[in-house]
Amino acid sequence: MSDITKLIRTIPNYPKDGIMFRDITTLLKDPKGFQTTINMLVEKYKNTDIDYIAGIEARGFILGAALAYALNKGFIPVRKKGKLPGKTITQSYDLEYGSDTIEIHEDSFASGSKILLIDDLIATGGTAIGAITLIEKAGGTIVETAFVVDLPELGGAKKIQNLGHKVFCLCSFEGH
Ligand code: PRP
Ligand code: MG
Repeated sequence: MSDITKLIRTIPNYPKDGIMFRDITTLLKDPKGFQTTINMLVEKYKNTDIDYIAGIEARGFILGAALAYALNKGFIPVRKKGKLPGKTITQSYDLEYGSDTIEIHEDSFASGSKILLIDDLIATGGTAIGAITLIEKAGGTIVETAFVVDLPELGGAKKIQNLGHKVFCLCSFEGH
């Protein structure tokens, strides 16, 4: 397994003092790094029974779309509120400060569809748990959740596992 960790840049004190921001733009712009990232996910999921890849706006779109293409699956965007033109199902979720709302089209997939959920990073897990709740509310089955970066100290991955879902992360960072 190639080490993508060193291609992820850390920016201290963003978006506020004391936060170490793990920035994947430096990974994405590196052709080999981006390819390796998607290839590792392809290797992991190429034999898994999946109907759709769902990616969470915004950074989950970049990885999810590339993975869906590589696995020859359809891509479902989990969007921030107010961006989808059709009838939607919505779900609010807690952030470290405040809350946000995400949504999908209510006809995004047939009931019982097997969904792989992907995002760039899991921290508190609020965003991913919101997306899991949303997809399940729409009748989907979460096959697994996948992230490039885990921040284990923030406990999100644990929370998702405690809900009974599998979590796969390509790398992790201590300190936040
Ligand atoms: C970041 C990141 C994850 C989420 C993780 O997204 O891309 O989606 O936070 O945090 P959590 O596990 O504590 O919920 P952000 O909301 O900053 O927006 P973006 O993807 O649109 O940049
Ligand atoms: Mg995000």
